[in-house]
Amino acid sequence: MSLLIRDLHKRFKTDDGKNFSALKNINLEITDGEFFTLLGPSGCGKTTLLRIIAGFERPSEGNLYFNGNDISHKAVFERNFPMVFQSYALFPHMSVTENIGYGLKQKGVDKATIAKKVNRIIEMTGLTPNKDKYPHQMSGGQQQRVALARAIVMEPEVMLFDEPLSNLDANLRISMRQEIRRIQKDFGITVVYVTHDQEEAMAVSDKIVVMNHGIIEQVGSPIEIYSKPQSEFVANFVGQANIIPAKIVGERVNILGVDYNNKISIDLNKVISRPEFVKIHDSGNHTGVITNSTYLGANWNLKVKVLDEEISILAPIFGNQNFDVNQKISFSFDSSTLHFI
Ligand SMILES: Nc1ncnc2c1ncn2[C@@H]1O[C@H](COP(=O)(O)OP(=O)(O)OP(=O)(O)O)[C@@H](O)[C@H]1O
Ligand SMILES: [Mg+2]
Repeated sequence: MSLLIRDLHKRFKTDDGKNFSALKNINLEITDGEFFTLLGPSGCGKTTLLRIIAGFERPSEGNLYFNGNDISHKAVFERNFPMVFQSYALFPHMSVTENIGYGLKQKGVDKATIAKKVNRIIEMTGLTPNKDKYPHQMSGGQQQRVALARAIVMEPEVMLFDEPLSNLDANLRISMRQEIRRIQKDFGITVVYVTHDQEEAMAVSDKIVVMNHGIIEQVGSPIEIYSKPQSEFVANFVGQANIIPAKIVGERVNILGVDYNNKISIDLNKVISRPEFVKIHDSGNHTGVITNSTYLGANWNLKVKVLDEEISILAPIFGNQNFDVNQKISFSFDSSTLHFI
C-alpha cells in the first residue's frame, strides 16, 4: 500500500465570489501500515484533505496516487477508504451485529462468511455483551466502537478518521485511542487520522503532519516534531516552548547574556527550549524572579522573568519545595536539548 499526494491545492468559492485557498501545495507520502496523523488548529484544512483522500471532494490542482495509480478522479466507492466520523452515524433500527454486517451484506458476501467475520470483530473490539443491542441502548464509547468495528470488518487497506473521539470524556478518549492504535497494528491497516489534540497525536501516531492555514509546517515522527520543531508555529502548537533570541559568537551561543556551547555552525538566531528541560538549581547560569507559579500535582509550572524575557519552567515536585511569586531563583538551560531555528 502506498498513498502519494502530489502538488495538491484546494480552492473554495466564497459567498462573495472570491477564491479561498483551503490547501496549498500539499505533498505527502503515506506508507504501508502507518498511523498518519493530520494535526493543526481549527480551520487549517485537515477535514478538507481527508475528504479529498476519501473522494468526497476533488482537488483543484494536483494528484493522488494509490499504489502508483492516479485516483484523483475516482469515486468514493471505487476507493474503499472507509471514514469514521465524530458522529458515529450507526443505523438506529439495526442491532450491533446487523450494523457491523451491513457493508458485507451490501457487497453480496454469503451469510456464513458474514457471521464469521462479524463475530470475530465483535470479540476483538470487546462488544460481545452488546451484540444484540440497538444504538440507543449503548453509551457513546460503545457506539464509537461499533462504528470502528463496522469499518474494520470490511478489511480496508486504508481507514480515515476525522476527530473520532471528540464526543467522549477524557478517560474514554484515552482508552479508545489505545484501542484504535492496537486494532490498527493487529490488522496492519494504514490509518489517516485527523485531530487538533496534540497529545492524542503524539500518543498514537507513527508520523504527524502539522498543518497551519492550508500549508504543511512539518512532517515527522512524534519525537522529531517535539524535539526538533522547524518553526515557531510547530514549537508552540505541539507542547509549550520557550522561544528566545540567541546570538552566535563563534563556537558559543549567547542566550540571555550567558554563553553556551554551540554544536551547530549555521547562523540561526532563535533557540527553543522546552519548559521541562530548564533546570532549577543553586548557582545556575541565570537568575530571575518568579512572576507566576502554578502547582500541578506532579510539577510546578513557573514563569520566570529574566532580562526582557519570560521563561516557562516545568519543575518536578521535589520534597516540599515551594515556589512563590517574587521569589528569586537560579536556573540553567540544558544545552544538549536546545534546538535552534
Ligand atoms: N465547502 C466549503 N466551501 C467554502 N469553504 C470551505 C468549505 N469547506 C471548508 N471550507 C473552509 O476551508 C478551511 C478549512 O476547513 P476544514 O474543515 O478543512 O478545517 P479543519 O482543519 O478540519 O478544522 P476543524 O478542526 O475546525 O474541523 C476553513 O476555513 C473552512 O471554512
Ligand atoms: Mg475538521
